[in-house]
Amino acid sequence: MSQPLFITTAIDYTNGAPHLGHAYEKVLADAIARYQRLDGQTVYFLTGVDQHGQKVQQSAEKAGVSPQVYVAEITAQFRALWERLDVQPDGWVETTDPRHVAIVQSLLQQLHDSGQLYKKNTRRFYSTRQEQDLTDKDRDASGGFGPEWGEVVELEEENWYFKLTEHLPWLRAHLQAHPDFVFPANRLTQLVNAVAAEGMDLCISRPKSRLTWGIELPFDSDYVTYVWFDALTNYISFAGFRDASPATSGLPAWDRTWQGADVVHVIGKDILIPAHGIYWPIMLHACGLPDAEMPRLLVHGWWNARGEKMSKSLGNVIDPNSIADVIGSDGLRYFLLAEMATGQDSDMSDERVLFRYNKELADILGNLLNRTLNMAKKYLGGTLRHTSFGSPGHAALRAKVESLPNALREHLRTWQVQKVLGDLIDTARQANEFIDQTAPFKLAKDPAEADHVASIMGHLAETLTHLSILLQPVMPTAAAKMQQQLGWSPPSGFTLADLHWGLLADGHRLGEPSPIFPKVLPPAD
Ligand code: MSP
Repeated sequence: MSQPLFITTAIDYTNGAPHLGHAYEKVLADAIARYQRLDGQTVYFLTGVDQHGQKVQQSAEKAGVSPQVYVAEITAQFRALWERLDVQPDGWVETTDPRHVAIVQSLLQQLHDSGQLYKKNTRRFYSTRQEQDLTDKDRDASGGFGPEWGEVVELEEENWYFKLTEHLPWLRAHLQAHPDFVFPANRLTQLVNAVAAEGMDLCISRPKSRLTWGIELPFDSDYVTYVWFDALTNYISFAGFRDASPATSGLPAWDRTWQGADVVHVIGKDILIPAHGIYWPIMLHACGLPDAEMPRLLVHGWWNARGEKMSKSLGNVIDPNSIADVIGSDGLRYFLLAEMATGQDSDMSDERVLFRYNKELADILGNLLNRTLNMAKKYLGGTLRHTSFGSPGHAALRAKVESLPNALREHLRTWQVQKVLGDLIDTARQANEFIDQTAPFKLAKDPAEADHVASIMGHLAETLTHLSILLQPVMPTAAAKMQQQLGWSPPSGFTLADLHWGLLADGHRLGEPSPIFPKVLPPAD
């Protein structure tokens, strides 16, 4: 039995409305969690929102409301989007939760008590947009800080520092011994280079004189903690860390967190270095997490919008709701996962959205379902009949369908959901070609071909049943509709291991056809 999978996503800043990048990441993690469950694995999926920090305080000030009111409003927008998009986490994070606050404070106290923190006065440059200290290596060729940092301020303050540099040799060795710490490989190389260049301890406090919207240091009430120290801790605080309830009081694994699971954090490329690739493993190591329990990182690429970087200042931030309004929630989930090769960047354009939806979902998959059910109704009265009729085309379609589960497992070892979808659409394409080649609409005119027609319908309906099962993690609603029309639903506890040719019995009654992906017309010029 494989280890349980504990999958998390980066928690989204509540300093603005959700956009396409947020949606992609949550849909990716949700689909992976559903695929692993379908394969019989135990999965826990955690996501949520990051509510503290300077950016949030500033956005609230601008909106003329308290940070509490501001984050409640944005949090509601994220929750509504996840509900609409069928993103169904097992655990939900809000960093203002008192339990999380207590765990962040307990880690800070532990680091303080073990001599890992010290106080000093410094002058430094700070980017609020990235919530990050900058050094000379962040300057561009002209010696300034580029626009990617937003407003950069010079601060002279006394603050608390974490002895990050003491742990860099450990991190270097860990990366060398565990090359699977980061996927994909090019991101690991970047991280290794960044660790080699890292030389500063981490400022983990903010004076309350300039930031009040955060978690107070338990040993110095003039300060709140740095938002990344707070946010990263969500991965353990919402996973039962130091949970003293009777159910977990035995504390066998590292203070019960992650319960010996394979832990994967799904994050975008912008927050690998330094937050998830340097700060987080070092925080965990400094607090005693054994190397064998270190999480892994799945680093996905960036969505651009119609050829440009998405940004508030360019005014081209894409609201996922606006796409779901046109192609539905399943259409959007499919687009996001089919269009982006996990780990690489992608571009969202109206043409690509419509191409994926109209050409693949409507013309190939939806059409296959519709044609099959209509013909089966017409030629077989909607009742399947097993026959011994076969042909190379029959065998090839069955072989393709039977190859899908293993191919899927192989693709998912490196999180390549787009390849899984490619295989499924290819199978539907092959089934459509099988119809064109066997031409059941002609055969049906000849009573002597009755077995031949029944065998074609049986192969098509069986193929569609398998496709509905394998598409369910990406398009849960459409898959359920397919199954309703096919007159079949998986028995409870159904997994990939139960998938076999012959799910639809002799005499199986098919349901009524009705288009599930109605075509969408391109907008008029
Ligand atoms: N709050 C931090 C994460 C804390 S995790 C302990 C944060 N929030 S964010 O709202 O800015 O971004 C949330 C996630 O969305 C990140 O993984 C980020 O990489 C991802 N994306 C933000 N914009 C994106 C695109 N344009 N494309 C793809 N993903 C992007 O960072």
